[in-house]
Amino acid sequence: MAQTYDRGAVEDIGRWREFSAGMWAWVLHKFTGWVLVGYLFTHIAVLSTATGGADLYTGTLQGLEALVVVRLLEVGLLAVAVFHILNGIRLLFVDLGLGLERQDQTFYASLVVTGAIAVASVPTFLAGV
Ligand code: HEM
Repeated sequence: MAQTYDRGAVEDIGRWREFSAGMWAWVLHKFTGWVLVGYLFTHIAVLSTATGGADLYTGTLQGLEALVVVRLLEVGLLAVAVFHILNGIRLLFVDLGLGLERQDQTFYASLVVTGAIAVASVPTFLAGV
């Protein structure tokens, strides 16, 4: 006879201490995917200022780039995009049945490469701050 287990509510975010590498990969992929969608709207809003003329557009960009918080958010955006792309490619390989035995390691590799690229980008994004 099949055994059943009471695993509690999966929606209970307080259970994050029980998360395995795979669960963190899932959470981070969702988070980064939706951050990218959110950024897309922001990006279009900023680009749309061009309809108000070149001066407004240039002024908007210069005003934003003058803010340290915007420069830091740009580093964060790069990290989010790089992780989503690397983990996304990893997931596509998993879908093809490739690397099934190495899922934790490839997830950690995605994190390490993302961290390295984000750190390497700091001099560029924070130049002149
Ligand atoms: C080379 C670029 C990208 C790759 C390889 C990629 C890969 C993937 C993959 C494989 C999934 C499905 C994950 C699963 O099996 O559950 C996914 C989900 C998703 N991606 Fe991407 N993606 C890329 C770029 C983007 C961009 C640019 C955006 C947003 C503008 C985006 C937004 C999302 C969202 C919202 C999801 C669904 C997250 C959820 O499960 O709720 N992705 N991506």
